Amino acid sequence: MSVIHYDLGSDQILTLTIDMPGQSANTMNADFRAALTETVGKAKNDLDSIRGIIVTSAKKTFFAGGDLKELYKVTREDAGTFEDMVNGMKAEMRALETTGKPIVAAINGSALGGGLEICLACHHRVVMDDDRIQLGLPEVTLGLLPGGGGTQRLPRMIGLEAAFPYLMEGKKVNPKAALKAGIVDELASSTDDMIGKARAFIEANPKSQQPWDRKGFKFPGGAPHHPAMAQKLAIAPAMLKQKTKGCYPAPERILSAAVEGAQVDFDNGSLIETRYFAELTIGQVAKNMTGTFWFQLNAVNAGESRPKDVEKETFRKVGVLGAGMMGAGIAYSTATRGIEVVLKDVSTENAEKGKAYSEKLLAKKVSRGRMTEEQKTGVLNRIRPTGSADDLEGCDLIIEAVFEDSNLKAKVTQEAEAKLVKNGTFASNTSTIPITQLAEASARPDNFIGLHFFSPVDKMQLVEIIVGAKTSDDTLARAFDYVQQIGKIPIVVNDSRGFFTSRVFGTFVNEGIAMLGEGIHPSSIENAGVLAGMPVGPLAISDEVSMTLMQHIRDQSKKDTEAAGKVWEAHPAEAVIDQMVTSHNRKGKAAGAGFYEYPESGKKHLWPELETLFVDQEKARATELQELKDRILFIQAIETVRCLEEGVLRTVEDANIGSIFGIGFAPWTGGAIQFINQYGVRAFAERAGDLAERYGERFTPPSLLLQKAETNTNFS
Ligand code: NAI
Repeated sequence: MSVIHYDLGSDQILTLTIDMPGQSANTMNADFRAALTETVGKAKNDLDSIRGIIVTSAKKTFFAGGDLKELYKVTREDAGTFEDMVNGMKAEMRALETTGKPIVAAINGSALGGGLEICLACHHRVVMDDDRIQLGLPEVTLGLLPGGGGTQRLPRMIGLEAAFPYLMEGKKVNPKAALKAGIVDELASSTDDMIGKARAFIEANPKSQQPWDRKGFKFPGGAPHHPAMAQKLAIAPAMLKQKTKGCYPAPERILSAAVEGAQVDFDNGSLIETRYFAELTIGQVAKNMTGTFWFQLNAVNAGESRPKDVEKETFRKVGVLGAGMMGAGIAYSTATRGIEVVLKDVSTENAEKGKAYSEKLLAKKVSRGRMTEEQKTGVLNRIRPTGSADDLEGCDLIIEAVFEDSNLKAKVTQEAEAKLVKNGTFASNTSTIPITQLAEASARPDNFIGLHFFSPVDKMQLVEIIVGAKTSDDTLARAFDYVQQIGKIPIVVNDSRGFFTSRVFGTFVNEGIAMLGEGIHPSSIENAGVLAGMPVGPLAISDEVSMTLMQHIRDQSKKDTEAAGKVWEAHPAEAVIDQMVTSHNRKGKAAGAGFYEYPESGKKHLWPELETLFVDQEKARATELQELKDRILFIQAIETVRCLEEGVLRTVEDANIGSIFGIGFAPWTGGAIQFINQYGVRAFAERAGDLAERYGERFTPPSLLLQKAETNTNFS
């Protein structure tokens, strides 16, 4: 079976159809490269009898891109061979591009990464006008670079500045937007129309050349040495550094490849690109990101944590109790995936407010051209606001998102679960109360489970599924199916106070607050948080969460610990929080005052009094940034190991995916456990021991870590 079907018609048009046998999608692997070489050789032989070439695909997706498994394996020692291999493949594409015969890409499905790069190497691009099709160069999101000519051709087609969001942010677009951006040339309404348009181009352009191969080629939007462009490019690295915090090498290398390549001819530019591509491919950040965002995410989505022998469930009607911030978001995320939602609050009026939230989000989509008015009405019609529990009759699943109060939760559970279909699932979105405890109110605790969403629900992809002591495998499997049906990422954890994500997140926040208590300058703390790769600093996030809520959670945990006959070890952050709330009435953002000031006009800024109250100038001066960054990453990674050790976490994949998507743990690390693996398990344990001596027992390496450190074995 051939990888690229070679079909030279009687009309002298050669159609190359990429159809890699045994693969659901075409990828740029060794088989493809071999087939490309063979195809190009054959076409060169037949050149006199070829009038033009159409490149298309037999798969649903036009071409999926590079073979990540192959890229993942490339080591530093292989760098030279890797560069030769990449340059060899690019030379084949270049050979076709420069025969003088017109080549048209007939793009029948999504073309991403290497797939889009094949299209860019053609003289003309016709794409099916289907909103499900995506075009883009997402390599940067895996720490890589579009190494198949993308950093050279795209800027030469649409200009450097216009190409940057695609190259450096991995922006993906649908066919209409791609046409507007100049990435494709025509839209087609059917396969016949697409092939017809491709043929028409060949008829009209018997001799074709890329613009950059023509004499007098002018760089669109200005070449790098054009004064206005030169000025913009001069500040680009600094601006990028601010965005990447120096943690992500890919955007900077992409910028270099594009700008340096734009100053030389295409072929030399292509060699420059390969050099940077190899550098990133062998680098650790790309390995971490590909490992987690590709292999581990796929393992999680493939349902490795889902009990196998339970039939897959499709949900039709879901009840949501509480139309507050979380309930409204859950209703939106469920209804947009075609599921009927009954949104219940204490009154219909309250529930209507929750529905209005969906209306607001949908209207934004319509105004941005991402949704039609009709689709918006369709989603809204699926949300039924109500104040009566009777309307929950016949739900397959009910998710409770009322106030964080066990008694109230018990009451709504009993009232609502009676309305579920036989074997229906009841889930709680509690953020702190153990699921086993909440399930005590249920008449069917085996059907009771935790579904922990994150705020804002429409944006946050993770859902933490919490298995209580009595939760059945059937219930777990169904909860998993629901999370997948609404297009979110499920991780499965066993019950524990704070589950996995809130527990680890708490260590991050508390560590930052403890630093303040030690006398470290608040801006150094916030800076260290962001430079460690967290989305925001620990003090800003404390304000978001609210310090009164943190006090409440702490008091509850303390009560439970003492009730279990154990001693409560006070965290150094506690005194700082109490001082802020009790002595200074600064509770957080919602209260208008916390570690930050929130002026009515203007940006929030750190409360100047923090300096007088907490900062020890000598200590502040002596503190090294690396030490602060280490503390922030180590404390979370250590708590994650504890979760593995205690069986709260079931797999390393769930730990890595959950830490990045739920907590915002630095993506460049590949997740909290990958961070340890990459640091070196033994070296990590030693450094943790060192931090424990200086800052307290919370850094003491757990026995699972020590066990692994003994033989320096990675977590897997
Ligand atoms: P919220 O205060 O915004 O909304 C709670 C809603 O429940 C209110 O609209 C209230 O009227 C309604 N409610 C009260 N009694 C009710 C009853 N008997 N029947 C129906 N509705 C009733 O609270 P939020 O932030 O949405 O939190 C809800 C739950 O989600 C809590 O358990 C919270 O711990 C949890 N959670 C919150 C997160 C957050 O970031 N806010 C994140 C993850 C979980």
